[in-house]
Amino acid sequence: MAPAADRPPGGRGPAPAHHRRLSSPRLARPGHAAVRDELRLATRLLLPALAEGLIQRRPRAMARAERKQADRTAIDLVRDLRARYGEGPLGLRAGPRRVALLLTADDLERVLRQTPEPFSPAAWEKRRALDRFQPHGSLISGGEPRRARRRINEAALDLARPPHAELLPALAARVTEEAGRVAREAEGGVLAWEGFAAGWWRAVRRAVLGDAAREDTDLTGRLAALRAAGNWSLLGPRRRLPRAEFLVRVQRYAFHAPPDTLAGQLRALDTRPEADPVGQVPHWLFAFDAGGAATLRALALLAAHEESAERAAREAAEGGPGGPWDLPFLRACVQESVRLWPTTPLLLRESTEDTRWRGTLVPRGTAFVAYTPYFHRAEPAAPYGDAFAPGIWLDGRAAGLPALVPFSAGPGACPGEDVVLLTASLWLAALLRRHRYALGPKGPLRPGRRIPATLDHFALRLTPHPA
Ligand code: HEM
Repeated sequence: MAPAADRPPGGRGPAPAHHRRLSSPRLARPGHAAVRDELRLATRLLLPALAEGLIQRRPRAMARAERKQADRTAIDLVRDLRARYGEGPLGLRAGPRRVALLLTADDLERVLRQTPEPFSPAAWEKRRALDRFQPHGSLISGGEPRRARRRINEAALDLARPPHAELLPALAARVTEEAGRVAREAEGGVLAWEGFAAGWWRAVRRAVLGDAAREDTDLTGRLAALRAAGNWSLLGPRRRLPRAEFLVRVQRYAFHAPPDTLAGQLRALDTRPEADPVGQVPHWLFAFDAGGAATLRALALLAAHEESAERAAREAAEGGPGGPWDLPFLRACVQESVRLWPTTPLLLRESTEDTRWRGTLVPRGTAFVAYTPYFHRAEPAAPYGDAFAPGIWLDGRAAGLPALVPFSAGPGACPGEDVVLLTASLWLAALLRRHRYALGPKGPLRPGRRIPATLDHFALRLTPHPA
């Protein structure tokens, strides 16, 4: 028999007698999807998301998804289910797994607020996938280790803490330098993902681990390979040797990381034995990849919106009201980019106890799933939906909408939000200081057109023009 961590909660064998009444796969109320709808969800939402790669995006699958506007189909499906089944959560079966699809912003807010108990972020599927490269990540830890690891992340990534005084100027200098190089290299040609990502990763390796890691493309290549294996979280063998090699490399850099890097911040922290501070760094590297995609998409959004591009360029030239690192409009553009194209399209929690929903008990071990593009684009996000509306992140409108959760929310919210928005806004400012960018004639994102539901960042081509 497989060890507990290898078995999905739904496959635990017969429920104890006191649970049996509750553990019927059919939820009387809020409702269980008909088999036909389960199949539609599998083919129009789950399989396309898996094909795109939830842990490491696959370029070919992304291109296909963009051509088909796969997210539009999935958003429309969830909208249809919400109209027919009511508020949910909608009960489903995915093999042995009992799933509850969240359909209202209130329910989403509850699940995120009540994290990690009774809604644990360390769902079985996530543990299987992320264990490939971050076995001690806080997101896949439970109990006391989770508490200690979460605290380490919060402290190390909290830019408001005093030790970060020396981090900020160093991070800004590294990011600005690498972005400037990317802009120069694109002059006279196009700015595409390959050149953008190469520079972005140089900046990330320097900001996280120090200048010694700047050219270590092999390190991030190894991470990409382990992430790609994580895409097949439920299948495939665990490759422990490549994981160990990767983790040792990260440790070596982290132990020598200067104080003006993110890993260097770990040294100043009070830690408990179970915290494994350096064990949190693989998640940081992994998550910065999403930051790169979001930043390139934000640049593309600006290229499609002239007025906003002018405002962004002014901010890039002058800096923000609170000093050189304060770039509120550019930050808002990146927030809008992750609202329109959330880099975590499936937010997943696993219930650690029975929970009651509109009078129905949902058994413990159920996977609660939110498809964030639905929450960010459809009725829960009204009236912004498909519009480019960076202003909502500046005047409190977004904060008033619990459906907008690109960085999650509650006690499991992203502790790296501030760091990544700072990095992305500094990066954009450096790109925009001497250039404006125009989108190519192909591709779904174009001035005056409805913003596409799926945008393949690998395929973006932006032409720089002198400002
Ligand atoms: C655009 C970039 C990013 C986005 C959109 C983002 C979004 C998110 C989301 C949605 C979660 C919750 C995941 C879940 O519940 O399964 C999360 C968790 C987390 N993020 Fe980010 N993230 C980004 C970048 C970063 C960066 C750069 C770092 C670190 C430097 C970071 C550190 C973390 C950590 C440590 C967690 C786990 C929190 C926990 O265990 O409670 N993220 N992020």
